[in-house]
Amino acid sequence: MINFAHRGASGDYPENTLIAFKEGIRCGGTGLEFDVHQTKDGELVVIHDEDVERTMQGKGLIKDLTLDEIRAFKCRKARFVDHEECYVPKLEEVLELVKEQEITINIELKTDVISYFGMEEEVIELIQRYGVKHKVLLSSFNPQSLKKCKEIDATIKTGFLYHQPMEQIIEYAKTLRVDAIHPHLKLVTKDLIEKAHQNQLDVNVYTVNSPIHMRELIRAEVDGIFTDYPSLLNEIIEEN
Ligand code: G3P
Ligand code: CA
Repeated sequence: MINFAHRGASGDYPENTLIAFKEGIRCGGTGLEFDVHQTKDGELVVIHDEDVERTMQGKGLIKDLTLDEIRAFKCRKARFVDHEECYVPKLEEVLELVKEQEITINIELKTDVISYFGMEEEVIELIQRYGVKHKVLLSSFNPQSLKKCKEIDATIKTGFLYHQPMEQIIEYAKTLRVDAIHPHLKLVTKDLIEKAHQNQLDVNVYTVNSPIHMRELIRAEVDGIFTDYPSLLNEIIEEN
């Protein structure tokens, strides 16, 4: 069972920053999850929203800002404003950080609201350049993005994210040729997990921060849990 530090150890550290990723690994995460957008000047950056304003002291859409403009913004979490690792990192910096780590890396392509031209090709090219393909899982809420990833590289692992009930989810996942389904916690049942496994699909569930849900999912033999508190999940895994 993979303990994915969701946006890093984002419960206690500024999400999607190098300090949150380092802490996610240090406290027992066996996977990291993070989100990728593309800047005006075509750079891949790790940040959740389309807009910088919620997490950083700046304004504007990622697609309308240059890398230099985005990296100049300080983070909003008061305790970390002047911390040297709390800017918006480039995807390359995160890959550099994780390339020697024995962890799974879930890169979420944020292509469901804004579509970024050529993003899938560029992400896969970087993954290959850093030699981390064997530990990467690409996910997206946008099925077209996932199809494209498999067209570019049929053996790269992909996971389909969804947050609305889908009756034929297993059949649909097979049409996308994904390796995993990534349902919202509210959509998960033991039956779904069993059926997914019978169809050679992993089930990774987001975002799980309560010990009760963590224990239930572990009992139901889920394959991965995304949590903002990887240290808490690690304690629960070690109970068994
Ligand atoms: O990948 C799981 C989860 O991160 C998907 O939702 O909004 O947190 O990116 P969100
Ligand atoms: Ca995400």
